[in-house]
Amino acid sequence: MAMPQLKERTMDYVKMVEPDRVRRQVYTDEAIFAAEMARIHEQVWIYVGHESQVPRSGDYYTTRIGRQPMILVRGSDGKVNVLYNRCPHRGTMICGDMKGNTGDQFRCSYHAWTFHHDGSLKSIPMMESGYRDTRVARDNPDCSVKRAARVQSYRGFVFASLAGDGPTLKEFLGPAIVAFDDMCDRAPDGEVEIVPNCFRVIQRSNWKLFMENQLDALHPSVTHQSTGRAAHEVEKRLAKQAKKGEVPLSYHMLSAFATVTIDKWDGFQTINYPFGHSVLTGYMGLRPQDPDTRAYDKIMIKRYGKKRFEEIVGVNIHHVLVYPGLSVQSPLQQLRAVRPIGVDRTLTEIWHFRLKGAPEAIYRRSLAYYNLVNSPATMINADDLENFWKCHQGLSSDGGDWVSFHRHYGRDIVKGEVVESGPNMGTSEAPMRNQMKAWVQYMGGSGG
Ligand code: FES
Ligand SMILES: [Fe+2]
Repeated sequence: MAMPQLKERTMDYVKMVEPDRVRRQVYTDEAIFAAEMARIHEQVWIYVGHESQVPRSGDYYTTRIGRQPMILVRGSDGKVNVLYNRCPHRGTMICGDMKGNTGDQFRCSYHAWTFHHDGSLKSIPMMESGYRDTRVARDNPDCSVKRAARVQSYRGFVFASLAGDGPTLKEFLGPAIVAFDDMCDRAPDGEVEIVPNCFRVIQRSNWKLFMENQLDALHPSVTHQSTGRAAHEVEKRLAKQAKKGEVPLSYHMLSAFATVTIDKWDGFQTINYPFGHSVLTGYMGLRPQDPDTRAYDKIMIKRYGKKRFEEIVGVNIHHVLVYPGLSVQSPLQQLRAVRPIGVDRTLTEIWHFRLKGAPEAIYRRSLAYYNLVNSPATMINADDLENFWKCHQGLSSDGGDWVSFHRHYGRDIVKGEVVESGPNMGTSEAPMRNQMKAWVQYMGGSGG
């Protein structure tokens, strides 16, 4: 009986998504959410954390992959492990804290079973007398903490997949791997270091609304207009007062939301890849010529030579989206990870990074962007959150059956598996169409 039901359900999912529009239930139906977790988030490569989060043996962070509570932990052998946060005895979470150092072992707080950093069983109190002739034995894998099926790291960014089979991390990322290359290449030492800790925001809306908003180039000059205008007013006043008309770059980070108008956003382009990933080209005019940037440029040229330096800082990327749960703004060292909690609850972790070997002022720039644009303290983030909540409320109503992704539909440039927004159509809804195309493949069982 189970099989025909499953088939029927799969058919339903496919019917809910058309190339240019999507049924509203895709965002609000609890059963669809459960299926998404099982078929997408708990299958594909999900970003767990950065190696620099856990520099010492025993350092750990807890997080989630789909519905599964997970632990990222550095082993005494230097390796990074990803484990289910679940004791094999009676199921207690091994780590109740968000982060910490567990010493040379994990010790369950309930009955003191202990485990090595790779999850393998270390000891059970009075094991010989208590478990003689039972299934509980050191060589029984059921007595160890379960590990993520696959763990791979790229330039310090750790991903895990809970499925034993599937594409490798590199195959999965495809051209979206540029997010990590671009971020690390901009560091004089060729690597980045995470800045602990992150902001955590729980959005009262479906996870896909966040993902769809990330490369929605139509919304910034509307949604964030008032914030951008206010910053622009101050920026203009300061420019008048300043001797050489120089205003701190942080004002520009906000004023750009007003000064980069829709027609300018249209000048950018989205490039959409298999598995739902996308890149938004165009950069908010950040090759400034202030003394801090010049000092950084000097260090970079010394390290890489003029030609390679120009290649590195010339990478034309504003934003990379790794579907289904990662948004990276590599030129400013920003990363947001999406952790769905329920059909109408989504946790986002908001992180930023330090370019190793770069002057402090360059880090301050990243921190400014983090605080002014991505953190929960800024009006930009609040503007977006309000939209997400209102979207989720509206989609929960009977006011309409469909969500429209028609902007510049039919005018995309298709190059095999890659779909580019058309010329001067940067505000195209091509990224959302691409995400839903991947969604159908995953939900229908033919995804990677
Ligand atoms: S539940 Fe962990 S030791 Fe008993
Ligand atoms: Fe926004």
